[in-house]
Amino acid sequence: MTENMLFESYKYGGMELKNRLVMAAMTRSRSFERGVPHELASLYYTQRASAGLIITEGTEISPKSSGYLWCPGIYTEEQITSWAKIVKAVHKKGGNISMQLWHTGRISHSDFHGGMKPPAPSAIAAIGKTYTNEGWKEFSEPQEMSRDEIKSVINDYKTAAKNAMEAGFDGIEIHGAFGYLPDQFLCSGSNQRSDEYGGSVENRARFVIEIIEAIAEVMDSQRIGIKLSPSNIGNSMSDENPTETFGYLIKKLNDYNLGHIQLMEADEAAKKLPNYVANVAAHFRKIYKGTLISNNNHNRKTAIEFVESGKANLISFARWFLANPDLPERFRLNTRLNEPIKKTFYGGGAEGYVDYPFL
Ligand SMILES: Cc1cc2nc3c(=O)[nH]c(=O)nc-3n(C[C@H](O)[C@H](O)[C@H](O)COP(=O)(O)O)c2cc1C
Repeated sequence: MTENMLFESYKYGGMELKNRLVMAAMTRSRSFERGVPHELASLYYTQRASAGLIITEGTEISPKSSGYLWCPGIYTEEQITSWAKIVKAVHKKGGNISMQLWHTGRISHSDFHGGMKPPAPSAIAAIGKTYTNEGWKEFSEPQEMSRDEIKSVINDYKTAAKNAMEAGFDGIEIHGAFGYLPDQFLCSGSNQRSDEYGGSVENRARFVIEIIEAIAEVMDSQRIGIKLSPSNIGNSMSDENPTETFGYLIKKLNDYNLGHIQLMEADEAAKKLPNYVANVAAHFRKIYKGTLISNNNHNRKTAIEFVESGKANLISFARWFLANPDLPERFRLNTRLNEPIKKTFYGGGAEGYVDYPFL
């Protein structure tokens, strides 16, 4: 095996990805009107069509899933139609694109819910702030979801996946990482329920499994992915035993013939905690048989190392893809990269969105 392996094609859910580089989901906060993608989103994504697979920014599955201003959705006809144009343009450029489905749960504010508390597994607030119409506000204390609400949210995921298929997407990815709703159910620090969705690891994993089963009713399971962050403490996340919790879930995911699991490597802060998995992909590779995408702080060298050693099948990049529309070509040539500019990550227009230079 050589470093060229990164640039070899890869079979994914009946598709042929042209290389092993994935563009990771990135919120760009430019959907100013009714959750419809920005008019430049088509250009932004087509510029990056040389990725093996693009995963869109986190996209709201329902109005209730919202936790941030200016994020797109996939629950109205107008949103579906707008996304369909983007997908068509990416396909025309020879790219593949999956939609990331997002529910923020407690990482939200009551302003996004008409004054009502945001939904979560338990009434435990996260510490931090979100940007609302009235500026930065502390996350609200959430409302513990009833069983009926849980079923209704699972159904929202299913409808959103159906809508994504209608828009022509090649697949979907469930955002199960970084302390958003599925992660809130999984981890013991945010889930203190006493019903069948809380307590044991089997119970805490139930929500994620039911989402996958519901989505698999409306699309090919081989095009369903899920992003997980077993070693993350951001967004006030904690778990009594992440090795066991994520080990249980990831082992079980073998049964669903999924497109991928995407695993974030540990953040520095999490590495210092007891029980946390330091080398995430290497650890879970032994448990998971399907396509494993590794994410977090990769560079050309680590990407080659991970793929070559078999720790991961695909490597995803967020910030390097944001700043380098032609990242695969730059990596292939082993040449210089544009540096990502933080101040234009979120909000604004063309600047820092569609104006990063190609080689
Ligand atoms: C501007 C920006 C927005 C992001 N938005 C999302 C998102 O919507 N969904 C998601 O799963 N991760 C999101 N992330 C996290 C990235 O997908 C990725 O996990 C993280 O940046 C680590 O990858 P990197 O080191 O290649 O940047 C975002 C990251 C950035 C920089």
